[in-house]
Amino acid sequence: MLNVALPKGRLGEKVYRLFDAAGLSCPDFFDDHRKLVLEGAGARYFLIKPSDVGIYVERGAADIGVVGRDVLLETEPDVYELLDLKLGRCRLAVAGPACPDVRPDAPLRVATKYPNVARRYYRGRNREIELIRLNGSIELAPLVGLSDVIVDIVETGTTLRENNLHVLEEVADSSARLIVNKSAYKFKRDTIDELLRKLTEGWEA
Ligand code: PRP
Repeated sequence: MLNVALPKGRLGEKVYRLFDAAGLSCPDFFDDHRKLVLEGAGARYFLIKPSDVGIYVERGAADIGVVGRDVLLETEPDVYELLDLKLGRCRLAVAGPACPDVRPDAPLRVATKYPNVARRYYRGRNREIELIRLNGSIELAPLVGLSDVIVDIVETGTTLRENNLHVLEEVADSSARLIVNKSAYKFKRDTIDELLRKLTEGWEA
């Protein structure tokens, strides 16, 4: 029996469809409920906030998990990343007004829910920043003068477009990744490889 950490929310729906196509479904995937543990054939699924998937897998509460690369770059869990599921493609970007009004000698005010990604990105460019950690609706920050720019994910680009904001710099590409607990990959390797095989076939189907 494998314990599988799956993300809730937007990415979750795509992932459940992939698991379903791979013959790894369970009836509750598509039902309206508030359950957090779902029993499937040969696997138990935990439904988790995407930013917490890595910690469940790193600490072995789940053997494997699915999480966006954007979240992995932010949280850096100590796990193996085995497969790009090619779902939930988006990019991490710096965005803001077309010409942010920033003094080159002042720290750039950056609003984000990806503080580690933002810090690393600007450290690599020797740009001093003032980090403003937000939890959602990040695009609002430059609109109301809370920040100069944002570091956030762009999927369809609709949120930026509808708020007159633009991608200014690309930070990284993202898509859903299958991650594995390091010791589970030693002791449950055959079962995990079998699941990987089914997922790859389901995804090609
Ligand atoms: C994410 C992200 C952007 C938006 C991008 O927010 O933070 O705001 O999606 O998607 P788009 O390019 O397709 O418009 P999310 O919807 O997860 O909600 P949040 O603002 O509460 O973080």
